[in-house]
Amino acid sequence: MARILTIESTCDETAAAILDDQLMVHGECIATQTELHERFLGVVPEIAARAHLERIIPVIHESLSQASMKPHELDAVAVATTPGLANSLLIGLMAAKTLALCLNKPLISINHLHAHVYACQIAFKRNVFPCVGLIVSGGHSHLYRFNDPLTPEFLGGTIDDAAGEAFDKVANMLRLGFPGGPALARLADTGDPTRYSFPRSFIHEDRIAFSFSGLKTAVRYELAGYGQVDFATLSIPGDKAADVAASFQAAVVDVLYNKAILALRQTGLRTLCVGGGVAANRALRDALREAALENDFDLLIAPPELCTDNAVMGAIAFEKYHRKQFADQTLEIAPGLIR
Ligand code: KG4
Ligand code: ZN
Repeated sequence: MARILTIESTCDETAAAILDDQLMVHGECIATQTELHERFLGVVPEIAARAHLERIIPVIHESLSQASMKPHELDAVAVATTPGLANSLLIGLMAAKTLALCLNKPLISINHLHAHVYACQIAFKRNVFPCVGLIVSGGHSHLYRFNDPLTPEFLGGTIDDAAGEAFDKVANMLRLGFPGGPALARLADTGDPTRYSFPRSFIHEDRIAFSFSGLKTAVRYELAGYGQVDFATLSIPGDKAADVAASFQAAVVDVLYNKAILALRQTGLRTLCVGGGVAANRALRDALREAALENDFDLLIAPPELCTDNAVMGAIAFEKYHRKQFADQTLEIAPGLIR
């Protein structure tokens, strides 16, 4: 039985896991940085990188000790190298390279976005490929055709903000704190999703693309009108805040599931895998479940704990381990999106 250490440090979670080739988790540790970034209402890259540096070794240590393993018992070391914040990625890569070199073990690179889709394979413990992959996170909103886990074809994505980013920005306007997505979703549950008709960009077009910046601006105008606004002092009645949250969420969900169905239609595939932080959103999950029943496709959504960033989804590294697709010490980070 092969066992791999996976390392995740693409954004603001420092995570490690020990996984075996049956996709069983032997140890897992995630150090979140919410408390460091919340007063800035967003992830501050320099602070994130410093926190990764402090936490990476304890996190790896904790995973190994949960698995009752010594480092030399590992069969490989894997690390997410793309996409992400440059300095955050570098900390994970340096840790992985150092371990691989000192232990004389193979080094494996992980594409964080592909890993978000692979979370479905782990959760459902069956082959989910070929499939359409919908990745909706704080940094990305994309649709891919996955014939296999490692070489997806990019079908289309956001031309501006990611869905999670829009959730976080609207949550900021409503003063819901950071990260805003989950808080906004909770508020939306108490509101009327039909009260405001917010824009749903490209929804009637036969093209796979998203745009959430106009939606964000529409929410801003609804809450504060035109011109310079200090949201910190703006007074928003409670029922309006809830209705805006619900109507905003309905617009995002509408666009995401319509484009997911379009991708299934265009590719002729019958399986949709959904991952990334926004896939934890209950309204989106419910809408996709309904769409799956109506359109007769197989829907696999990662469970909420595998939607947000984690190292368990790094089990995708076994796909490379089995094919002996190893990296060497020249491995570099690639912060920009690799399609
Ligand atoms: O995948 P992830 O953990 O990190 C990135 O790779 O970006 O996604 C984080 C994003 C944040 O924007 C967060 O607000 C959003 O996912 N998010 C949600 C929910 N839970 C997390 N958005 C809407 N509803 C949720 N329940
Ligand atoms: Zn992510």
